[in-house]
Amino acid sequence: MVRTSLDVATIRKDFPILNREVNGRPLVYLDNAATSQTPQQVIDVIVDYYQNYNANIHRGVHALSQEATDAYEEARQKIQRHFNIAKAHEVIFTSGTTHAINLVANGFSSLLKTGDEILVSAMEHHSNIVPWQMLAERTGAVLKVIPMNQNGELVMEAFHELLSEKTQLVFCNHISNALGTINPIKEIIDASHNVGAAVLIDGAQAAPHIKADMQALNVDFYTVSAHKICGPTGVGMLYGKEEWLKKLPPYQGGGEMIAEVTFEKTTYADLPHKFEAGTPNIAGGIAFGAALDYLNHIGLDAIAQYEEELLQYATEKLLAIEGLKIYGTAQHKTSVISFNIKGIHPYDIGTILDKLGIAVRTGHHCAQPIMDFYQIPGTVRASFSFYNTKEEVDVLVEGVERARNMLL
Ligand code: ALA
Repeated sequence: MVRTSLDVATIRKDFPILNREVNGRPLVYLDNAATSQTPQQVIDVIVDYYQNYNANIHRGVHALSQEATDAYEEARQKIQRHFNIAKAHEVIFTSGTTHAINLVANGFSSLLKTGDEILVSAMEHHSNIVPWQMLAERTGAVLKVIPMNQNGELVMEAFHELLSEKTQLVFCNHISNALGTINPIKEIIDASHNVGAAVLIDGAQAAPHIKADMQALNVDFYTVSAHKICGPTGVGMLYGKEEWLKKLPPYQGGGEMIAEVTFEKTTYADLPHKFEAGTPNIAGGIAFGAALDYLNHIGLDAIAQYEEELLQYATEKLLAIEGLKIYGTAQHKTSVISFNIKGIHPYDIGTILDKLGIAVRTGHHCAQPIMDFYQIPGTVRASFSFYNTKEEVDVLVEGVERARNMLL
């Protein structure tokens, strides 16, 4: 087992919420794949904005507006640097991954025709299924599914067979939210490009663990939500290659996204503003940049190593519980463990864990096709972050054992 030098005790002091109690017990927060907790450094940035320079951006000549605009655009540059994006205007601020995916899906309405094919992986979140189904209905394109195996890995031979000159778009998550599988996205991107298809990778679950390099990946679109990486809710990014962003029509009309408006005709603003209609989540965007600073200060490599340690430790301990089955045993996976105990509904386990102060997610995790594949109603999902500890894993394991003894 790899040993890391992450100073978790010191790191935990940055997260005020980790001091609270739930149901009279110390909070054990293991629902990080749903949303991560927010360090004081990021909370301070949000408070500072509202206390000191709250103003609308790109609009006023007054000092506050200039300060807010500078901070917001600096955040865009931090995102650009973090993801090694060639041009700052290839970073579009969105309200999150769902908004980003819908923006692209909507844009392709005018670019697809009947009979074109769209490939989507079998392990997608609903946000990376439903917008493409809606796009297929609008355009007459055909949605095809890249299958997965029992371990929760994509069947790559089947993917390569599905690709053809009809394939226009391919969608896949970088990491599955329900299973933790790390997908072979470089292979997917390169093979899709070979048949002329564009690729969107949903990076919502990858961003907390992996520093994805947009230029090295050569991906067409990549999406991230700030709240999964110690930032606030309601803000995220769409990365799009300039050539694609120029080709796609705007998603929403309104202020900020125009060059000139008359009742006869409106012309659109240049990138990135063409896709940023209306007043954005300004404090959120600035805090997104601060969250990246925070993660980079700790170091994503150190984070990934430590989380791997937690994953191995938790997997071993949980598997020792009689009747417990883990869903998602891919060779390459992150610190997400989805499990059930034979004969017990996942909600019942989740409810007992909550009484013990342990936060996990139960249900289908917005990925019903995965649950259908395994023929289960849902799972209990524990997802670990760099501020979790082995002691917390022990509390989880004791809690699951207790739930098992109560419910069987
Ligand atoms: N996509 C989030 C999750 O997996 C909400 O829980």
